[in-house]
Amino acid sequence: MCGIVGYVGKRECADVLVDGLKRLEYRGYDSSGIAVFQNGKIAVEKSKGKLVDLESKMEKQGKPQGHCGIGHTRWATHGEPSDINSHPHGNKRVTIVHNGIIENYRQIKEFLIGQGYGFESETDTETVAKLLDYFYSGDPIETISKMIDKVNGSYALGILFRDFPDTVFAVRKESPLIIGLGEGENFIASDVTPILKYTKNYYLLEYNEIAVIKEDSVTICTPEGKEIHKEVHTADWDVDAAEKGGYEHFMLKEINEQPVAIKTTIAPRIQEGMPYLEESGLTMEMLKNYRRIFVVACGTAMHAGLVGKYVIEKLARVEVTVDIASEFRYRDPLIEKEDLVILISQSGETADTYAALKMAKERGADTLGIVNVKGSTIARESDIVIYTHAGPEISVASTKAYSVQLSIMYLLAFELAYAKGAISKERCMELTKQLADIPEKLNEVLGIKERCQFIASRLVNAESLLYIGRGLDYALSMEGSLKLKEISYIHSESYAAGELKHGTISLVTEDMPVIAVATQSNLLEKTISNVKEVKARGAKVNVICTEDVEIGKDVANHLIKIPKMEDLLMPLLAAVPMQYIAYYTAVLKGCDVDQPRNLAKSVTVE
Ligand code: M6R
Repeated sequence: MCGIVGYVGKRECADVLVDGLKRLEYRGYDSSGIAVFQNGKIAVEKSKGKLVDLESKMEKQGKPQGHCGIGHTRWATHGEPSDINSHPHGNKRVTIVHNGIIENYRQIKEFLIGQGYGFESETDTETVAKLLDYFYSGDPIETISKMIDKVNGSYALGILFRDFPDTVFAVRKESPLIIGLGEGENFIASDVTPILKYTKNYYLLEYNEIAVIKEDSVTICTPEGKEIHKEVHTADWDVDAAEKGGYEHFMLKEINEQPVAIKTTIAPRIQEGMPYLEESGLTMEMLKNYRRIFVVACGTAMHAGLVGKYVIEKLARVEVTVDIASEFRYRDPLIEKEDLVILISQSGETADTYAALKMAKERGADTLGIVNVKGSTIARESDIVIYTHAGPEISVASTKAYSVQLSIMYLLAFELAYAKGAISKERCMELTKQLADIPEKLNEVLGIKERCQFIASRLVNAESLLYIGRGLDYALSMEGSLKLKEISYIHSESYAAGELKHGTISLVTEDMPVIAVATQSNLLEKTISNVKEVKARGAKVNVICTEDVEIGKDVANHLIKIPKMEDLLMPLLAAVPMQYIAYYTAVLKGCDVDQPRNLAKSVTVE
């Protein structure tokens, strides 16, 4: 959940670290800090709050000067956000930054207290720093190896040893870490975004590999000290992709990037008008033989799975179970060897989704990762991986990642339905063609932002909202509701429209605005009946529907009309007004849209 950077080279290290942390701030933003070698000593600066707080502290007090150091942006797990709990941690001899959770930190702490060590912070990280100090023998590799033997849990660590003032050491287990390879300078980072400005080449650090990073060399070795030769990867994201590019917020930029993201994701997977997923290793033969499908994910990615369920079951007539990963991993699901388990994850690092992947593999099912971040853990460990090509998604609220996840679920559903003989080749081609037309239609939908701004102005003072819909509209309304809660802090709930009168309608008053999604032609009449029911109880109702639908003022207060396409594909279009409404409501409320309170982009802890 935290972001790590490290630098060795000729540049002013503090500047490189702070710039890198800005790009990683989405991973956690309750405190930050850096440690830099200054005249042979480790100088540390840290501060509670956003990175700007650290910057202004350093402006007043002066920043550490030097060319080798590490930095951290934190999402608190052990101990509240405070100056003392901020990273880096350690002492004058060993200083570290850490992303992950040390499970046995209490035992280690007790042991070290017994050895005479004192502790300042409430963090698990400080125990690792002091443990490294305890083991330190003058040989960093040996010291890190001993630490690896004693520590349980997940970690990516950037480490400075006072005796090695030109070197950053790094090691990881479960939490991600890459080594950026520059010219006369090298880096460590939690993902590629901090290095893109300087280089696109990097190594992926594997479990318990130890990296020794100097300005003109990078050596990777095993805990036993055996050197490892690594493959150099090249990032295909460019530096602009991780900039706001003139938009006020990353979220707005990412909403607007959806047509291109979808096009880039689906174009290479359509051949001669048919879905083509074989390149990723998913053959027609395999698809034909799967008995059941499980989709496991968290948050927005799980909502993409719900849309996928409707579409796959409708077209391919294959049973699909969608699970929240944190539930799936503990509910002892009935997975068999003939099943396919799909893990959807933007980051590819979500701890619960990763645990679900491991469990599915243990039970012998095929695993398919639908992942955005190249080389991430879920991508690397799934049997089959289909990358979504959304580019970096920086805003904590997921938008374009959702659309590309949906696009892959559609292609998969079409191909599966064809493989199972449930639809003809002509129908498969027709659906694929409509999917390929989505980016163009989306450009039209992006034009309705003023309408959504207006609706947002009506919601801004609400304490609670209800999202309703049926079928695919219900699946989508869950995502709309999550988006609003996440960034505007207005409570909302999504409800199957037909279920309202079994209890929840008692909440409806004139103070509870309703957003109804009504894009499914076969369910339109039914949904409109439900809209009338809430309107009759005083609710102000906003309906998202297709342009051909006429709904009177007596039924809905405001309409948002979007182009009409095949019912099955409507979630891709209707997602945009949902995203805009959440975005503009949060903006009007003055919320921190890209970095909502208590959240982090990548949830690498359970
Ligand atoms: O990286 P992942 O897709 O695995 O993340 C899953 C969720 O944490 C994520 O979708 C979260 O719900 C978003 N912040 C919602 O906007």
